[in-house]
Amino acid sequence: MEQTAKQRQSNIILALDFPFENPENRNSLFKKAEQVLNASHPYLWAVKFNHHLVLPLGVFDGIQKLVKQVHDRGLLAIMDCKANDIGATNEAIAEYYYAAGFDAIIANPFIGWEEGLKPIFNVAHKQQRGVILLTYMSHKGAYEGYGQTIIDAETGKQTPQYVSFAKKALKYDADGVVVGATYPEKISEIHGILGDKVPIFSPGIGAQGGEIAAALEAGARYLIVGRAIVQAEDPAAVAKEIRDLARL
Ligand code: XMP
Repeated sequence: MEQTAKQRQSNIILALDFPFENPENRNSLFKKAEQVLNASHPYLWAVKFNHHLVLPLGVFDGIQKLVKQVHDRGLLAIMDCKANDIGATNEAIAEYYYAAGFDAIIANPFIGWEEGLKPIFNVAHKQQRGVILLTYMSHKGAYEGYGQTIIDAETGKQTPQYVSFAKKALKYDADGVVVGATYPEKISEIHGILGDKVPIFSPGIGAQGGEIAAALEAGARYLIVGRAIVQAEDPAAVAKEIRDLARL
């Protein structure tokens, strides 16, 4: 991931998300995705997919073709599936997304290690793919889960949930953590724990109110941007503008 971002001189990940469309129109959805990708790819190093496209297009029909197009342009593909189930199910989720070509998937650390995250990391390590863990989400209600004060199961000490998750990301040798750009103070605190060992991926720029400079100054390494680019009249121009503002 680091090499690709450096080569491409960009720290921008496009979230290729579109609003709901009648499933009968999924061909036009596929074409729209291709158009945005074609226009914006020079300014990106990765593309993140989510349910917005996976549900209507299907993993092995539409998505795999788009992942190939992403790879053909020299970019990486990340699946934001937020894997969050028991081990056997997570294993299947990871296997299918990696089989479709994804370089990394996002998982939720609330499920714990044994029979939770461990099977995902096992599959990822076998295939030399990545696992990125949520640590503090970008939406308003994030404080109800990620922001709670907990008694850490390992240390028995009071600690914010996200601090415990950040320490676990280090321990598990995760390939990245996701911290919302809408909470620069959380990025800063989590960066203090992770240093340069685990990069921070930060969504929430633009449509959710997060700011590029604040997120980067706080320690975010990569910015995830969706609607601000996808729904722009000129996605290429906006992607370039954001890339230039966030230049490595
Ligand atoms: P927008 O349009 O708001 O899209 O730029 C953001 C994209 O990122 C996803 N998202 C998150 N993914 N942890 C994640 O793993 C988060 O905290 C988070 N916040 C937003 C969102 O679903 C969309 O794809």
